Amino acid sequence: MNITVIGAGYVGLVTGACFAELGNHVTCVDINEQKIANLQNGIMPIYEPGLEPMVMANMAAGRLNFTKSLAEVSAEPQVVFIAVGTPSDKDGAADVKYVLEAARNIGARINDYCVIVDKSTVPVGMADQVQQQIRSELSKRNLAIQFDVVSNPEFLREGAAIEDFMRPDRVIVGLSSNNAKKIMLDLYLPILRSPERLYFMNVKDAEMTKYVANAMLATRISFMNEMSVLCERMGVDIEQVRIGIGSDARIGAAFLNAGCGYGGSCFPKDVRALIKMAEKNDFAPLILHAVEDRNAQQKNVLPQKIVALFGEDLTGVTVAVWGLAFKPGTDDMREASSLVLLDNLIKRGAKVQAYDPVAMPAARNILPSEWLTSGKLVLTEHQYDALKGADALALVTEWKPFCYPDISAMKSLMKQYIIIDGRNQYDPRQMRDAGFEYYGIGRGSIPARSRQVEVVTA
Ligand SMILES: NC(=O)c1ccc[n+]([C@@H]2O[C@H](COP(=O)([O-])OP(=O)(O)OC[C@H]3O[C@@H](n4cnc5c(N)ncnc54)[C@H](O)[C@@H]3O)[C@@H](O)[C@H]2O)c1
Repeated sequence: MNITVIGAGYVGLVTGACFAELGNHVTCVDINEQKIANLQNGIMPIYEPGLEPMVMANMAAGRLNFTKSLAEVSAEPQVVFIAVGTPSDKDGAADVKYVLEAARNIGARINDYCVIVDKSTVPVGMADQVQQQIRSELSKRNLAIQFDVVSNPEFLREGAAIEDFMRPDRVIVGLSSNNAKKIMLDLYLPILRSPERLYFMNVKDAEMTKYVANAMLATRISFMNEMSVLCERMGVDIEQVRIGIGSDARIGAAFLNAGCGYGGSCFPKDVRALIKMAEKNDFAPLILHAVEDRNAQQKNVLPQKIVALFGEDLTGVTVAVWGLAFKPGTDDMREASSLVLLDNLIKRGAKVQAYDPVAMPAARNILPSEWLTSGKLVLTEHQYDALKGADALALVTEWKPFCYPDISAMKSLMKQYIIIDGRNQYDPRQMRDAGFEYYGIGRGSIPARSRQVEVVTA
């Protein structure tokens, strides 16, 4: 099949590479000219395990190419994916301007029947707007071309995107045309192997399914975070509770980890957008508000623990931070918990030494440059460099190398042996036996003592 993918970000690039890997001819279009130039030269815009070799192999095979404009796509596409961003607007609703622009570009380009597949996460009813935009562009060209707009929300996880795309639990497709149904079956059968895992429904149901899925997952996390606060106050270990309830088949084990809050490009903005959709429909979504509020509070848990230990004024305190990405396996720092921690620590006068295995370039791009030039924040080259002279270590992202650290190296470098484990990666007893003061999330102990630190004036 000839496929065009509009938007070469996390979703678009993975979609394009995977469909090319399956033998299709794919052109990825992105308005970011630098991104396209880099991709044409084999430079990946994002870190995603397995993506680079797949892109390179398919470019070499002539099945995958990149261009900055839909007008430059030579082959007539049978399927056009829209995979552009839908960030929050200033009120929290999904900003759909990129989707509408993509739709207009499609209307200005197509010359034959094709299926327009909306992969971006879009508010319910968006497919109708996409259809209108395309139709109005076609009428400007005096063309009466048939086309179908399909909703095919994406459920891949950054860090496991290729695996998720190639081996999805299921694929959701919202449509109302038999032509489109046949094409979507042809497209996805090589991935799913059996049509039963391709769920067809109407377009609005599919659009809503994506939001409800993300809201449900965010709810589970916020619920466990709330329980972790209670556990901490009652001397209970949330990790034991998690194992206890996760083994109940009615509940299941996924998305029950308490931690220092969820971030990323999806859960926060999608929960906000769903709240806006509810409000637009005169409905006050109590649970969604609570999910958001708990998450905002949870992002403050690490700085609060550090303040409880060292006092409000952190001048002279050096904090090592392991992990900046919003989760392991990605360089994405959008709405990451690390941002709240860094901001809080630096405003209180602490010196921060941070390390992330892949998000260091992203961190340099998005963090205030003044933090770096002033030396308030040092991004270290190696994991253990961050620990030099540190009064405490805060673990924010559970990358594998952080989860199995060299204890004697840690002790030889840190000034005070304090670990604040934002992802409950360590065994509290093991860490305490090794001589560390250990504080996890909801693990039965609260830091209560104010520590003295030697204040070094410049
Ligand atoms: N990132 C994820 O894990 C994930 C998972 C599932 C669904 N989604 C959804 O998929 C959509 C895309 O997310 P993403 O993370 O890939 O975004 P992204 O920001 O990484 O990429 C979006 C890309 O679209 C490009 N773009 C914007 N307007 C364009 C236009 N008119 N023509 C061509 N290119 C254009 C941008 O330059 C950018 O490269 C969003 O709606 C998101 O909610 C994301």
